[in-house]
Amino acid sequence: MYTEKLKYTVMLPFQLITTDVAQQQELQEIYKSEYGVLYRGDCLRLLSVLPDESVDIVFADPPFNLGKEYGEGVSDQIAADQYLIWSQKWLSESIRVLKIGGSLFVFNLPKWCIEYGAYLNKQGMNFRHWIACRMPKAFPRGKKMSPAHYGLLYYTKPGFLTKLEETGVKNCQNAYCTTISAV
Ligand SMILES: C[S@@+](CC[C@H](N)C(=O)[O-])C[C@H]1O[C@@H](n2cnc3c(N)ncnc32)[C@H](O)[C@@H]1O
Repeated sequence: MYTEKLKYTVMLPFQLITTDVAQQQELQEIYKSEYGVLYRGDCLRLLSVLPDESVDIVFADPPFNLGKEYGEGVSDQIAADQYLIWSQKWLSESIRVLKIGGSLFVFNLPKWCIEYGAYLNKQGMNFRHWIACRMPKAFPRGKKMSPAHYGLLYYTKPGFLTKLEETGVKNCQNAYCTTISAV
């Protein structure tokens, strides 16, 4: 009992899991500050131990399945259906851990963003924007063209006003700005 309590008293204000749990999930602590801890490890192992509705923002920049070398134990070339099954696992875990009104940002090729968007829409997430990040070196590649932009999907978890909406509504006197569609 006492040990349990002690574990929590040494946690930082923004830390959601204890050192023991991190070790069990093979998460390597690589940076620590007054704001929390940065872990290196498998995203599904980390997400699985986070409580429901405990985080404000999820930002994901996953491998694009282009066959890049990311080191031992990471394959960046798997069948498209397997890639999507894996992606749906971390997307649904991200939805679970997000607080109501929390934001989900996902960066990927348009080819995968379109699949992610369809899945997130089905899960009832609120589509906010498809932010286009320009790729200045787009060029024809074999019989294809490399994309002139990568997508940064921005979704929010429905429930009540997002932080942006709250502050936008409070700070703006203009009637148009107070409508949800304007913020
Ligand atoms: C497109 S890169 C993103 C790079 C990162 N944004 C950066 O600036 O370093 C994809 C990253 O996802 C990591 N990765 C691959 N599989 C992972 C997994 N299951 N859990 C967590 N990270 C993973 C890779 O090691 C790689 O660093």
